[in-house]
Amino acid sequence: MSNNSDSKSKLWGGRFSEATDAFVQAFTASVEFDQRMYRQDIEGSRAHATMLCKVGVLNEDVRDAILRGLDQVQQEIESGKCIWSIEREDVHMNIEARLTELIGDAGKRLHTGRSRNDQVATDIRLYLREQIGLVINELRRLQSGLISLAEQEVDTIMPGFTHLQVAQPVTFGHHLMAWFEMLQRDASRLQDCRTRLNVLPLGSAALAGTSYPLDRQYTAKLLGFDDVCRNSLDAVSDRDFAIEFCAAGAMIMTHLSRFSEELVLWSSAQFNFINLPDRFCTGSSIMPQKKNPDVPELVRGKTGRVNGHLVSLLTLMKSQPLAYNKDNQEDKEPLFDTLDTLLGSLRAFADMVPAIQTKKENMYRAAKQGFATATDLADYLVRCGLPFRDAHEVVGKAVAFGVEQNRDLADMTLDELKQFCAKIEQDVFKVLTLEGSVAARNHIGGTAPAQVRQAIVEARKRMKA
Ligand code: ARG
Repeated sequence: MSNNSDSKSKLWGGRFSEATDAFVQAFTASVEFDQRMYRQDIEGSRAHATMLCKVGVLNEDVRDAILRGLDQVQQEIESGKCIWSIEREDVHMNIEARLTELIGDAGKRLHTGRSRNDQVATDIRLYLREQIGLVINELRRLQSGLISLAEQEVDTIMPGFTHLQVAQPVTFGHHLMAWFEMLQRDASRLQDCRTRLNVLPLGSAALAGTSYPLDRQYTAKLLGFDDVCRNSLDAVSDRDFAIEFCAAGAMIMTHLSRFSEELVLWSSAQFNFINLPDRFCTGSSIMPQKKNPDVPELVRGKTGRVNGHLVSLLTLMKSQPLAYNKDNQEDKEPLFDTLDTLLGSLRAFADMVPAIQTKKENMYRAAKQGFATATDLADYLVRCGLPFRDAHEVVGKAVAFGVEQNRDLADMTLDELKQFCAKIEQDVFKVLTLEGSVAARNHIGGTAPAQVRQAIVEARKRMKA
């Protein structure tokens, strides 16, 4: 990174009479972080030059020189030969200045009918559009992993919790598919965000449009945008798409943090429901026995920064007058860090989830504690003719007896149960088993193994839609 020449050599230096303060130059530059959009910047310039030639603003020789020059700049960047300079402020001016060094005057014609304001807005949209595709791919990989694991665990019984207290038995497959559903909504939010961002700002120029006869629809077509932004003032200043993406990202991380929390709890000695393979864990430098669930813990922690980035962007845009303001340069770091954090977290989870080892016996034993089939007994009494509230009361008494005796409902004798309600018969024991309890919840969205099998079949289709 170089920063040693004067303002006279800057692309905008014409009206200035003294060099930019060296600190201010570094302070206002964005090239250190926006260079990651170099491909999109070049792609946008190619389309702009092609369109300018089509409408007769540039001749073919100039266009061809620009296109060839841009190829060379791209090659220099990709082979690590390009020196990014702080004096050239940002990715846009670095590329344009290098182009002009390479091809001379033709390079100076590229910026006709364009401003960095519509240019940067276009670059971010192009960049984010591509990255959303990558995020969706990782999300899909994680969803597939959940489905495969759920398929192996459709019959595995575990306690379902409310208030983190044993509530009713569920199948582990059902629990895994709950995570699938969260991620399914996340994927749909990302797709929505991509649709709304896929509109072209280029042609809005600095803020008011331009006096050249641009064909904006043509540029949009070249760049794969569905439409063009309809108001130039809005187009150069709008960052809704970045906020929407970070909101979707914060939601994904919030989901992953819930998921993480359960993995941390379940891999503890107290729950002991699952084993996370060693390659996803680390040890302690002092306690030799430790195996820590670092991946879920770290993902849980990273949720904080993504939620923070959402608030940063909202606050960045709050009260900004139209149109472009330099404030907007601050959109990139939160956005890029959100992308990096999401991609990393989803990748770690997508790799880890298929390798989760289930301790079925421990899950089963835990489900047998805490009177998980009490609701089933109440439902049985309703089928015997009791109103549900009375049935609830009866079972409450039976549970109190069980607590006193330290025995589950299924371990009581028929006579003991009959003390609470004479209508109870031998067939009650079918509903008091864990297997009977889960099998009874046999409707769409229920935990019965048959339903979970069906949910898995549909999930595979819904993921592809
Ligand atoms: N680096 C700037 C940004 O990220 C590019 C646009 C600059 N425009 C301007 N009028 N100074 O927003």
